[in-house]
Amino acid sequence: MNRSSREKPFAIACERNRDPILTVLRQVLPERGRVLEVGSGTGQHAAYFSAAFPHLEWLPSDLPENLEGISLWREQAGENCLAPISLDLLADRLQLPQADAIVCINTLHIVAWQGACNLFEAAGRSLAPGQVVYLYGPYRYADRPLEPSNVQFNQWLKDRDPVSGIRNLDDLTTVARDQGFVLDADAPMPANNRSLCFRCVDDR
Ligand SMILES: C[S@@+](CC[C@H](N)C(=O)[O-])C[C@H]1O[C@@H](n2cnc3c(N)ncnc32)[C@H](O)[C@@H]1O
Repeated sequence: MNRSSREKPFAIACERNRDPILTVLRQVLPERGRVLEVGSGTGQHAAYFSAAFPHLEWLPSDLPENLEGISLWREQAGENCLAPISLDLLADRLQLPQADAIVCINTLHIVAWQGACNLFEAAGRSLAPGQVVYLYGPYRYADRPLEPSNVQFNQWLKDRDPVSGIRNLDDLTTVARDQGFVLDADAPMPANNRSLCFRCVDDR
């Protein structure tokens, strides 16, 4: 992300992946209500998806240092793009704001594994049966080796921060199941990424 004062942060990956992701989001997001985006990053996705879903409220979130950049993107977005909130997946007893769906793109391989556990634990308390947690990113499958590009990416992640890394789908589905979610959809995406849709089936 390049950043100078009042200049919107920009990530080329967001430009590349936003339309493939949008196609999937059209299939999994609700007709109305509020979408909580976890790990919004630059804010590009929040601006783009809130425009694509004018009937939904889009609530971006990230660590405090990213909120200013997200707000700059929000200045050009519609009223349904809400002010970004601070949300740290590693917070003790993570509490999520009210939401009807959760979207988390390219974030669970950045944050320590506890962040993924916390996300599903909090989502299990916050979402109702039928509502979804949508994840996008690279994942590791038990029945096949990581693609060479993802082997390299995983090494890059580990060199940068040993607690990060490409997550095992089986570990995610286990954590999700323990919190009342089933893997409803798992779709291939460009550049060896996946779209995962976990649906809440348990009223807590
Ligand atoms: C690779 S970026 C992805 C950003 C954006 N979703 C995208 O696709 O461009 C990972 C994001 O995770 C956020 N992040 C890292 N640690 C986090 C934590 N503990 N809680 C919440 N977000 C975190 C970073 O600030 C960053 O915005």
